[in-house]
Amino acid sequence: MPTLEIRNLHVSVEDKEILKGLDLKMDSLKTIALLGPNGNGKSTLLQTIMGNPNYKITEGQIFYDGKDITNLEVDERSKLGIFLGMQYPSEVPGVNNADFLKACLNAHREKPVPLFEFYKLLDNAYKRTGIPFEMSNRNLNEGFSGGEKKKNEILQMLVLNPSLVMLDEIDSGLDVDAIQVVAKVLKEEQEKRGFLIVSHYARLYELLKVDRALILVNGKIVADGGRELIKKIDKEGYEWLRKSLGIEIEKETNMNQVSIGTCATKEMLKGK
Ligand SMILES: Nc1ncnc2c1ncn2[C@@H]1O[C@H](COP(=O)(O)OP(=O)(O)OP(=O)(O)O)[C@@H](O)[C@H]1O
Ligand SMILES: [Mg+2]
Repeated sequence: MPTLEIRNLHVSVEDKEILKGLDLKMDSLKTIALLGPNGNGKSTLLQTIMGNPNYKITEGQIFYDGKDITNLEVDERSKLGIFLGMQYPSEVPGVNNADFLKACLNAHREKPVPLFEFYKLLDNAYKRTGIPFEMSNRNLNEGFSGGEKKKNEILQMLVLNPSLVMLDEIDSGLDVDAIQVVAKVLKEEQEKRGFLIVSHYARLYELLKVDRALILVNGKIVADGGRELIKKIDKEGYEWLRKSLGIEIEKETNMNQVSIGTCATKEMLKGK
């Protein structure tokens, strides 16, 4: 039985349909690379699997370990072992990082975590991610650099111990050394959990075991293969989709509209 199964998923954001009948089956302990052009629905898919209420499921179902989770709340999905490392982690002023992690951990357990056990867990997670332990006393993501925020998502993953880890552009904002650190941690975790990893770059995938690569275009999975897909995109971009598969990538409609700014610029240029 697949860990994650998505059937005919249609999702709208602000009344605009983003996912348009997406199907996906993911086996446990596998790593899937999810690629696709900007604005085609990758983050929408991950947020929807996590249960973000801003993403409205209008049709279709999501199953996790055989259980229909389509209508479950975020915390219920989290307790089932689903985790999302976000593309843009939010800053939460006034919430101490360590307190936050402890509260998350306790929400997943019947009895509160003993202090010494929590400290050991935290110490190990900070060491593995290369984040200075002092940062556990800072407020969650407040004033963190882009790379620190991303590493902090990995740290949360280690503390929460999920069975399905979704990472949304975890490599964006990481410097070359930090990518190596994060990839090392992920690689060590790949035997223990499933990973659904969104990235635009081949680099991170090259450092990991990748079982499958999927391409999401226009709200659907349009290609399902192996590392060769990642290599092709890295070399040729997405233009080959049109050439070899006849897939036209829909552009943002409002980007095609002529804005007042465009008219003003044209008028100015006319005068030159
Ligand atoms: N809250 C929102 N309000 C309006 N539109 C939204 C909202 N969230 C997402 N969208 C739109 O949904 C579409 C898909 O966005 P999504 O973030 O899923 O793309 P993506 O594939 O992750 O792109 P990227 O590679 O740039 O991260 C985009 O056109 C985006 O503008
Ligand atoms: Mg995205």
